[in-house]
Amino acid sequence: MKGFVFNAPTTVVFGSGSIASISGQVSRLGCKNPLVITGPRIGSSSLLDELRRPMEESGLEFRVYDRVSPEPPAETIAEAVSVIRQGGYDLLVGFGGGSTMDFAKIASILAVHDVLIEDMAGNDRVPAKGLPTIMVPTTSGSGSEVSPVAVLSFPDQGMKRGIASRRLIPDAALVDPALTLGLPAEITANTGVDALIHGVESFLSVKANPLSENLSLMACENIARNLVRAVRSGGDLEAREGMSLGSLTAGLAFSMAGTAAVHALAYPLGGQFHVPHGAANAVMLRPLLEFNLPACRERFARLAMAFGVAIPGDLQGSSEAFIRLVIDLSEKAGVKTHLRDLGIPREALATMAEAAMEEVRLLENNPRVLTREDAERLYSEAW
Ligand SMILES: [Fe+2]
Repeated sequence: MKGFVFNAPTTVVFGSGSIASISGQVSRLGCKNPLVITGPRIGSSSLLDELRRPMEESGLEFRVYDRVSPEPPAETIAEAVSVIRQGGYDLLVGFGGGSTMDFAKIASILAVHDVLIEDMAGNDRVPAKGLPTIMVPTTSGSGSEVSPVAVLSFPDQGMKRGIASRRLIPDAALVDPALTLGLPAEITANTGVDALIHGVESFLSVKANPLSENLSLMACENIARNLVRAVRSGGDLEAREGMSLGSLTAGLAFSMAGTAAVHALAYPLGGQFHVPHGAANAVMLRPLLEFNLPACRERFARLAMAFGVAIPGDLQGSSEAFIRLVIDLSEKAGVKTHLRDLGIPREALATMAEAAMEEVRLLENNPRVLTREDAERLYSEAW
């Protein structure tokens, strides 16, 4: 058996109503003066009351910074950092989707260390831990509540880049599925398919280990069972709980095993055309699964078994059945499946392939080596 390293993750408090434990988590971390980081949509909605109420009831003083934009450009963090420094806040609560949590992670570092964001891009380049953070996801997708990764846009480079370091792992994740009940169908679909892809890519990754594999499978099972239900009836708490659990376990799995080429090829769609992360991943899913198939029939067959579509003694048939099932799921969820439907011009494919090859951090996890020519062909297939 191949040996492996398991990095114990952060504290996770999971369950509908678990938001009530927010003040307890703040004091467990020895903090008294938190700043809640969120976006303008949540900042002006009643969802914020779900967080405000338990904090006020326990007499915890806090302020709210609600200017995080979707897929946040790196330079917008500077404003939040000066608010944090001037207010002397001792903890950040990231309250929102992946973009908001990633923003809070990077702000936590910049609040106490003078370092340039671009110098941290890549693996293990964050100089030291920042302010303590608690993440409260309001979508089921990014897994950012437990992951060591933050992704930001660099508009001048037309790129999105990932920063990965154990120093970004939040100090607590408070996962309350009830917070996702009002999430619109389109966001539920895009973020849910992103979580499904985290489960699949972390399972197929060359860095997968027995623990991450089981977390990946658990993620895939929960998401497969609940994605379409959550999209079609957003108020179904059981489906939302399954999606939150799936997204969380996928986040734990890719924190160890990483994601791979679907994410690498999706990044340029976000960086150059501002396609939301989940939608960008969803559109690249089919070409990449078909590309990876010859390199990992046995692993696909294991996934087919987990999804209950395996054909005994037939690796190729099982692999194809698994791909059909995943594509069918994402189509039923209603995500877009063609680049042209996302407003990407055909002429952009070559430049996008060039940019995708920069994502070495992700491409090196892929079970099949992918060249620039492959990337361009896969974009054509997705177009
Ligand atoms: Fe993702």
